[in-house]
Order: sequence, then structure tokens, then C-alpha cells
Amino acid sequence: CGIVGYVGKQVAIPILVEGLKKLEYRGYDSAGVAVLDTDKISVSKSVGKLVALEKEIGDNFSQSCIGIGHTRWATHGRPSHVNAHPHGDCGQDFAVVHNGIIENYLELKDQLIEKGHSFVSETDTEVLAHLVEDFYQGDLEAAVRKVLEVISGSFALVVLSRKEPDKLVAARKDSPMVVGLGTGEFFVASDITAILNHTRQVYILDDGEMVVIQEDGVRVSDFMGNPREKEVMHVKWDAVAAEKGGYEHFMLKEIHEQPRALRDTILGRLEEEKVVLQEVDLSSEQLSQMHKVYIVACGTAWHAGLVGKTLIERWAHLPVEVDIASEFRYRSPLIDEHTLVVVVSQSGETADTLAALREAKNRGARVIAITNVVGSTVSRDAHDVIYTWAGPEIAVASTKAYTTQLEGMVLLGLYLAQVKGTLPASKIGEIISDLKEIPAQVQEILDQESSIRQLAQSFVGVEDAFFLGRSLDWAVSMEGALKMKEISYIHAEAYAAGELKHGTLALVTEQTPVIALATQRDVFDKTVSNIKEVKARDAKVFGMTYKGNTSLAKSVDHVIYIPETRDELAPILTVIPLQLLAYYVSVARGCDVDKPRNLAKSVTVE
Ligand code: G6P
Repeated sequence: CGIVGYVGKQVAIPILVEGLKKLEYRGYDSAGVAVLDTDKISVSKSVGKLVALEKEIGDNFSQSCIGIGHTRWATHGRPSHVNAHPHGDCGQDFAVVHNGIIENYLELKDQLIEKGHSFVSETDTEVLAHLVEDFYQGDLEAAVRKVLEVISGSFALVVLSRKEPDKLVAARKDSPMVVGLGTGEFFVASDITAILNHTRQVYILDDGEMVVIQEDGVRVSDFMGNPREKEVMHVKWDAVAAEKGGYEHFMLKEIHEQPRALRDTILGRLEEEKVVLQEVDLSSEQLSQMHKVYIVACGTAWHAGLVGKTLIERWAHLPVEVDIASEFRYRSPLIDEHTLVVVVSQSGETADTLAALREAKNRGARVIAITNVVGSTVSRDAHDVIYTWAGPEIAVASTKAYTTQLEGMVLLGLYLAQVKGTLPASKIGEIISDLKEIPAQVQEILDQESSIRQLAQSFVGVEDAFFLGRSLDWAVSMEGALKMKEISYIHAEAYAAGELKHGTLALVTEQTPVIALATQRDVFDKTVSNIKEVKARDAKVFGMTYKGNTSLAKSVDHVIYIPETRDELAPILTVIPLQLLAYYVSVARGCDVDKPRNLAKSVTVE
């Protein structure tokens, strides 16, 4: 989603709308603005792209000089007029825009309803407006601070109030927010792009900071109210670079967004020894009737399914088949009401995946979707939906959608095991505590980016590359090879390490670099034997394993180390260097990283 706020001497609406247009690429299912007219908050909203909002506002708009705006990428509550931001309270004294997820909103909503508040939308954001109303006692900043004490989750929020018509109050935690410093005018935005036409002087708010913005100045404090000194940052990016958050390509930006995306996807879904998937409504009784699972998807999402198979089989003791959607739908799969079908789709609009979903439903299966787009066709057609909270993915080559799909698979695998009683709670607790470490571990890998960038140089002139691994490493190899193929146009092949010698080894020469993943502990020695087979054919081998493993280095030319985790979670880490590798090889070969030839982000034809 995108946020913009303005306080100054100019008419607010054109500035807000122009800012929102710059953010439209982040979310575009609905948009809205709220400005302060003499003693009343005027709100305009509309579903769809920004042009629809412009139409709704018309030419005869408010001349107010203070306001907030939002463009939405639906999370809680489907895209609709009532769910569009800004949201208000009962007395229409406050308007709020918000990015992120308020984890405990249902509980807060119940408490507010008991106190007599009534709600019009399904969003978590509306709770914020009512909370401010509830806490307000003549001081907006104090009321917002109280709200910050009771909410949990991730947020960047801005509040406008007719009770204090000269100010905006904003706060952030785990969701970006900047304050633009003009002369006699100030801006707040989720993204520098939105305000770049007006100022290049900004404060980047840190987690746990809030800000009061008035025409005569800006005051930053922590959530307790202690003042914070901020350094002014001068933004040098041009508008195109700003849209990409300063990164050269959307793909690189999205690779770097993964710690945030991964954090959001598990937010509110993990208790100490329990997974909470409110969206999935399967009793142990119903589950005991399920004899088989199919995971059906295309492309990268199918690769996430390959990991899911091992997790569900290992944890929930259910047999799983993974199918490519375009194959599944035409091969009369053996499906009945005892079959659970899991469809995975970032966009939720892929034609083959949708057709497979419908086929499965027609044959009586129970369908769970893992998707990134609220309100997408897949999300509407499935019985249950597990959303990944990756946010909009722009680059054709999928990165953050894949790793959050892997998390979706972990959550589902644990959930099924929990309901079926195939894993003790203590074991689930151990996996959960490892899962919580993953976002920081991904960050740790991203911090080593420069070494992968260097490594990429060895691939610039090659024509073929192999990706090897066993078990879950094999599944990730397929994703690594796909990334390499789609954006660098190098012929890359993934192979189950043990299968290579049954034919494909004939292709290995000193000209074919081999990337060998060797994280899975139960097959580590076997993988090393296979690595020796390719080494013996003079291939240059780049191995990947856990930090602390000293033996792999003896068998390969170069080792990429990832932080230690349990083997089932390793795919979320091992894929990160592979994404970076494909990215830097693509850049070095001068390819169009974000829009590779012949490919589309979402394939809505068969
Ligand atoms: C296209 C994209 C891939 C994606 C696949 C499935 O081929 O280029 O990145 O994995 O579609 O898309 P979905 O939206 O269903 O996950």
C-alpha cells in the first residue's frame, strides 16, 4: 500500500493525488483521500486505479491545505469501497490511513464493539480510528501514543483530526515511512517517490518513532514521547530510482524486501507451540477423512509446492503429489472428497492454476489456496485461503513471493500435523522458534551480497550451468536454475544429485559450472559423493552449506555459507544466494532483469 500526507499552504488534494499516483505500482485495488474542511473531515474513495479516484473527486474539490491519502493493496478485507482507506471513527472526528497488519485487531474490535463502537469495514485499520476516538481526551498525540501501546503488528499510520485541525500525527513500526521537509510545508509518505516533486530533504523514520507534523515544524519522538534527534537526508535519486527504493531494479528491491515479507507472513500466525491459521477451517475429524494431498501450481509456485510435499509428508504423514497445473487438469487425477488440493499462485489469476482448482472442486476435493493477492480469482474460488503477505511483486522473476510461499507451506505442514496429532506440541514449538529466526537469517545473507556479486563474474560467459542437490536441496535447485534461465538466458538445469550419473553427466565439462546445494544433513555425505563425480569431470563447483560445516570446502572450489537452521527451513535461506546470483549474472550480461524476453508476470491464458 502507499501513504501520503500533507500540511502546508497549498491545496492538499492535488498534492495527495499526485503522490498516490507515484505509489500506484505498490497497490492499486482502491484509493482514497481525507482532507479537513471547516470543522469536518471530507473523504473521497474509489475502487480501482487512481483515475477512478480522480473522477470521484472531480474538479470542484475542497481547498483544504491538510490531508492524507492512501492507495491500497488489500490485506484484511477484500478490495471494495468500504474497505478503502482513509477510515474513520463513529463521530467522524478522526481519519486514519495505514500500511501493515494490526495483528490483534479482532480482539481490539470486540472490545470496542462492547463499548458501543460500530464498524463499517472488514479492515484492521478501522480499529485504529476507533481506538483514537476512544483514547482522545483533548490531545491527539497522547491519544495516538495510547493506541500504539495496545496494538501489535506492523504499521505505518497517519491520523488526521478535526479536533486539532493543524496537525497530522504519524508513527511507524516494521513498515517504512518518511517525512518530507519543505518550507512552511511538510509531507509524510510511505515512500520517497510520493514527495520527490516537492522536496528532497527528508527524515527517514525508524521503527518505534512517531511524528507530529504542523505547518510550522515537525517533532519526532519515540512511542513514549521522548524527543528524537533526526538527521536530514538529502535524496539524490531520480523519480525512477525512487520508485525502486533506490535499487537499480525491482527484482533487487524485492529480493531485499524478503526479511520484511517473511516477517509479515508469519505475523500473528505463531504461538509458542501452535500454528494459528484462522483462514483454514478443517477439523481433525474432516482431516482424518483426507487420504491424499495434491499441490498444484505453475512456475515458481510449483517449486514452492515441491518443498511443501516433503514438509507435509514428513510432518503430517499424508501422501502428497505435486503437479504442474497444465498437466494436472488434463490427466484425470484421482480425486474425490477425501482429497485435499493445495493450489499455489502469487497472482491468483494464472489460467492453468485456476482451471486446475475448478477441476479439483468439481471432483469433490477440498481446496486450500496459498496466494499473495486478496480478492484474486483463486482466493475467491478456493474453500480456504492462506495469504502470503509479500506485497505487490513487480519483477517478472518471482523472489519474495516464492520465499513467502515456502513459509505458507511450513505453516500448512505444521497446521496439518497439529490437527492430525502427528507431531508433539514441543516439536512444533521447536520448529516455530527456528522459523522466527528466518527473517533475520535472510537479512544476514543479504548483508553478504557483495560476495555473490563477485561470484557472478564466473558465470557471465558460460552457456550451460547445473544446479544439484538432494531432497529439499533438489527442490531449491530447480528454483535456482529457473531464476538463472529466465533472467540471464543461460541454459541452466537442475538435477537430483544422485541421478546425474544416469545420463546427464555426459554434459559436464570444465565449461559447465555446477552449483551444489548441500544442506540436508541426512544426505550430506551422498551429496558430497555426487559432487566428486562432477569434480572428476573438471567442472568448477560452487557449494552451499551451513556455516560451521568445514568438510564441504574440501570437495568444491568455492563455498557459500548460510546461517544454520533445521533442514526443513533451509530452502528459504539457500534460495537467497541463488536469486542474487541470477540477478547479478543477468545485470553483467546486460539483460532486461525486470522484464525478461518472452515472459509475463501473470499468465492468464492457457
Ligand atoms: C509466470 C511468472 C512466474 C510465476 C508463474 C506462476 O510464469 O513469470 O514467475 O511463477 O507465472 O504465477 P502465479 O501468479 O500463479 O504464482
